[in-house]
Amino acid sequence: MKNLIDKVTFRHGATIDTRTAQSPMLTNSGLNEKVTQDTINYYNARSQSAGMVIVEYTSVSPNGGPSRSWAPDREQLAIYDNSFVPGFKKIAEKLKKDGNKAILQLVHSGREAQYRYAFGGQVEVPSNIDFPWISYPLHELSEDEVWPIVKDFGTATKRAIASGFDGIEIHGANHYLHQEFFFCLF
Ligand SMILES: Cc1cc2nc3c(=O)[nH]c(=O)nc-3n(C[C@H](O)[C@H](O)[C@H](O)COP(=O)(O)O)c2cc1C
Repeated sequence: MKNLIDKVTFRHGATIDTRTAQSPMLTNSGLNEKVTQDTINYYNARSQSAGMVIVEYTSVSPNGGPSRSWAPDREQLAIYDNSFVPGFKKIAEKLKKDGNKAILQLVHSGREAQYRYAFGGQVEVPSNIDFPWISYPLHELSEDEVWPIVKDFGTATKRAIASGFDGIEIHGANHYLHQEFFFCLF
């Protein structure tokens, strides 16, 4: 019989202090897709919230987000180049200060990256079928264009680990790119 407050050791050997995790939740505290002091304060306050805290939606490619925006200065986060690393280092340091594990959720929003279009970028999809409710142009990815995105997930993972995170989670829901590959209709 296991209790919620028991430690759990994963197959590769990492141990978390309780069998609890905080699920990833957007704070929309970014600015120019970068971590702000608000983001750091939020995660600093949650360093004891669970054995493992999964940090929110973070885009791996320039065209991988943002998908939503509450206001011009309330943005989602990204980690598609090294300039993002200092902010994530601060999050990891604050989150882990009481012994928690820190995980970063990585995403490419695919056709949902509507704010990338609003900022002048390209919105990328596996299949450019007609989505009647989508009002912005979609770019159908060729196979040659998919592989760099696969690599972006790898590079983003290295940046997360270099920032002090213990691991990453790949966002596979919300009709983002991964889900679009196997279920494109809605
Ligand atoms: C404000 C808010 C932001 C969220 N942001 C994310 C996110 O960035 N990534 C994600 O995978 N899920 C996100 N979710 C979904 C949660 O991680 C969680 O799966 C959902 O709330 C269901 O869990 P619950 O039944 O414990 O509430 C968000 C949920 C909320 C309420």
